[in-house]
Amino acid sequence: MGSPEFTVRKALASDVPHIQRLIRPYVERRILLGKDDVALYASIQQFRIAVGPDGTPIGCGALNVFWDDIAEVRTLALDEAWIRHGVGHRLLEGLEVDARALGIGRIFCLTFEVDFFTKHGYLEIGESVVSPEVYAELVRSTDEGVAEFLDLARVKPNTLGNTRMLKVLPDLS
Ligand SMILES: CC(C)(COP(=O)(O)OP(=O)(O)OC[C@H]1O[C@@H](n2cnc3c(N)ncnc32)[C@H](O)[C@@H]1OP(=O)(O)O)[C@@H](O)C(=O)NCCC(=O)NCCS
Repeated sequence: MGSPEFTVRKALASDVPHIQRLIRPYVERRILLGKDDVALYASIQQFRIAVGPDGTPIGCGALNVFWDDIAEVRTLALDEAWIRHGVGHRLLEGLEVDARALGIGRIFCLTFEVDFFTKHGYLEIGESVVSPEVYAELVRSTDEGVAEFLDLARVKPNTLGNTRMLKVLPDLS
């Protein structure tokens, strides 16, 4: 039997309540960072949404640009009924298309799902992967995801047990 049908599209502003519904179980388990509605509306252009056969959102994921060559995949979450049906794969693929369109060459993620990301070409990283000059600029950000990327002491409780991973997008030219 094949996987049930779904499609992946760019997010609409009206998807925000669905994004909240999709991420809530993972936020409660401290797998994902929670976001206020106002932050989700402000970053809605970053999102792709997977929808099931009846049009209901069943998954979401976002690409947040850090600097001129690097972005983060964040807020990737599925309705539990849809796990392991290829939805995460398609969302990640879509976000990589968005990254290329922005001229981004490297994608970071902070995750417990090491096997899923390894299958998609992400490798575990240790130290900072940006120059000291870019680090000095990024440290000015108030974004929690940037702080996690930089591995700042104040966010260590959020990052416990997570793995820092990076993918260098292959050059298609
Ligand atoms: C991580 C997540 C997005 C994966 O999505 P998914 O739709 O279940 O994964 P897919 O069905 O697209 O799987 C793609 C491939 O990864 C593999 N895979 C997925 N999850 C895996 C896991 N936990 N362990 C091992 N392999 C895994 C699949 O077997 C598949 O491999 P194949 O192509 O060889 O068959 C989903 O499990 C999820 O929402 N998790 C909770 C939230 C989370 O941790 N998000 C990541 C934070 S950045």
